[in-house]
Amino acid sequence: MPIGVYQLPTLLEIMVWKQLWVEGRDGEGILAVLCLDYSSGALTGDLCEDLCVAQKLVYKHCLYYDRGKKVIQADWRGQPIILKSKKEMFSSYQHLTMLEEMETQDIPETELLLMVALEVKNVLGLELSNNTMGPLWTRKKGPHWKAQVASMWSLLQQEEYIYFSLLQDFSKHVLRIIGTCGHFYAVEYLTAGHAWHKTLFPLESMVGPSLAGHRSRVRAIVDIALSFLDMVQHFDNDFSHRLHLCDIKPENFAIRHDLTVVAIDVDMAFFEPKMRDILEQNCTGDEDCNFFDCFSKCNLKIRKCGAQRANNNLQVICDKIFRRWFSPSLRRPLVSLPLQLQLQKAVQECAQPGHGETTGHQRTLRSLSELYHLLRVTQRELQRAE
Ligand SMILES: Nc1ncnc2c1ncn2[C@@H]1O[C@H](COP(=O)(O)OP(=O)(O)O)[C@@H](O)[C@H]1O
Ligand SMILES: [Mg+2]
Repeated sequence: MPIGVYQLPTLLEIMVWKQLWVEGRDGEGILAVLCLDYSSGALTGDLCEDLCVAQKLVYKHCLYYDRGKKVIQADWRGQPIILKSKKEMFSSYQHLTMLEEMETQDIPETELLLMVALEVKNVLGLELSNNTMGPLWTRKKGPHWKAQVASMWSLLQQEEYIYFSLLQDFSKHVLRIIGTCGHFYAVEYLTAGHAWHKTLFPLESMVGPSLAGHRSRVRAIVDIALSFLDMVQHFDNDFSHRLHLCDIKPENFAIRHDLTVVAIDVDMAFFEPKMRDILEQNCTGDEDCNFFDCFSKCNLKIRKCGAQRANNNLQVICDKIFRRWFSPSLRRPLVSLPLQLQLQKAVQECAQPGHGETTGHQRTLRSLSELYHLLRVTQRELQRAE
């Protein structure tokens, strides 16, 4: 029995959506349709009432591009937040036919839990125990249970939502989820990176006007770099499997007020078992074994890419982020020249490790501890100079 089919949008949905689209208010249009579906009882969530009735969740503007996720900035009870969904309309998500066929109260809870577990296993490539799935799981309650399950099902089709929900309590380096309404999940609003920005992250909005001087900016960059290293360590060691980030660029990270680095786009994040599945492809050369920022080597004898990733998160962060901060063109008179040179060399070595005596893993560990050391010395130098 197929467990899901796609449902066509209703005529009313299309009309509202079209009208708002023509008026050029696409983000608002998306939320208007969301509320229409909420009022018809098709979907629900803890933020729907604030968005659709009490008007305590107010649309600000869109942050998305044509191809990516729908990312909407909004104001929730005076606090800026972000609403995210992979697709615009609830009806575009796979629909649970089971909900139509049966009276909802008849669906055994164990059956639903099993479906959730299967979906999670599919996305993460991991089997989780029932008690770890708590944040994803809606228990049977109340008359709106059908809308609750349908909403849960639309959220479960979004890999990123699964990652964020499950890692909430284990990691300060992933986005906090504030709540949901239908297929949209709300997350904290942070200062996101931009490749075109001179310091990659707009620090002016972070360090406050009194600290906006050059020295504070340099100090902030060093603190953020240290937080990047903490995140690398954490994703490498603190879960039962290593977490690989395959789309590393400033746009996919953001900074909290305390200068913690947060991964805000984890569509291309994979735990080790799934990473191995993705990499292990047929190949005729190494170039067939590249998957965005994750790659392995082609074994020409068996014409298969190695399952083990050949590079790692640290290397790519050094290459795409640290190199921009610690390069010869950006000499900072606040830090002594020998230290600057050491740091540049360490970043270079980390981004493009040479083929020395040591294994890749040992080189990475050495790079990590060297960068920690040099950044902490820089931090102390900057403090002393005050
Ligand atoms: N929590 C957030 N706080 C601030 N800006 C965000 C947040 N989430 C996303 N953004 C902005 O929206 C952009 C797109 O979001 P992202 O999750 O990377 O979606 P996509 O899959 O389209 O790349 C980000 O590069 C960032 O500029
Ligand atoms: Mg992105």
